[in-house]
Amino acid sequence: MEVNMFGVIGSGQMGNGIAQVAASSGLQVIMTDINEDFVNSGLEVISKNLQRSVDKGRISDDDKSVIIGRIKPSTDIKDMEGADFVVEAATENEELKFKIFQELDNICPSHTILSSNTSSIPIGRIAAKTTRPDKIIGMHFMNPVPVMKLVEVIRGLSTSDETFQKTWDLSKKFGKTPAKSEDFPGFIANRILMPMINEAIFSLYHGVGTKEDIDTVMKLGMNHPMGPLALADLIGLDTCLAIMETLHNGFKDPKYRPCPLLIKYVEAGWLGRKAGKGFYDYTA
Ligand code: CAA
Repeated sequence: MEVNMFGVIGSGQMGNGIAQVAASSGLQVIMTDINEDFVNSGLEVISKNLQRSVDKGRISDDDKSVIIGRIKPSTDIKDMEGADFVVEAATENEELKFKIFQELDNICPSHTILSSNTSSIPIGRIAAKTTRPDKIIGMHFMNPVPVMKLVEVIRGLSTSDETFQKTWDLSKKFGKTPAKSEDFPGFIANRILMPMINEAIFSLYHGVGTKEDIDTVMKLGMNHPMGPLALADLIGLDTCLAIMETLHNGFKDPKYRPCPLLIKYVEAGWLGRKAGKGFYDYTA
């Protein structure tokens, strides 16, 4: 079955980016969230991103209107009944994701592939909550989605070859390069990235360096496009903590213990860019 209608659950920083790349590739998209304010702000971000492309002469005004016209906003998950392929990009919370997948399993036709943009929750655990484990897969985009070239495709134990191939092909249709990961905590991307970020936070916590010095060392010393603390702010400190907890619980290894400073910041609501404050201040 060809993918004509593409569903995105969640219109936050990952969801709206995924909706933008799907619509830009020519697919009809349904983007849902729990209230109109969230959906509208997701659409606004897409419009701003596309306007930048218009200003740079990469697309025309008409192209922008056509792309936005392909995205149907909704606050009702039941609208996913017309989707051939869904990606869930809700908050990184296991119980919430289980509930969404159970709903999607009831709502969507039997051919629909249900993927998750989870950064670390095991795909097999999500699949076990549905009646279609062969059609459950991880489709992990990177932030900012319109810019980053990678999609990490994660196969659960029960994922079928057909589901895997369709997800792989769709990633290419979106202009991305897919890479395959097996279903272990954190997959490839976050098993490697997040302990580095956590260690940068420990370095700040232990007073090894200031936040600026830690980021400068990694930016200029290792040629990373941004320092690990600035990157944590971009990803969201709540997401970073959720990923570290998944690694810690999954491997039962103390080396994955989340830094107390990360926990403290999340408890204070200092979640990074989206909250206006994290390791850096974004209110100015
Ligand atoms: N949305 C859309 N486009 C964006 C953007 C955003 N949030 N932020 C930047 N861009 C675009 C800019 O418009 C610009 O586009 P043009 O070249 O067309 O003008 C381009 O990206 C470069 O931006 P800037 O010149 O402003 O800044 P930069 O060169 O420093 O790049 C960056 C910004 C792309 C974010 C770069 O710093 C970078 O690659 N950082 C690392 C990002 C990263 O590691 N992401 C992965 C995080 S891990 C993850 O997402 C998965 C997980 O599970 C946690």
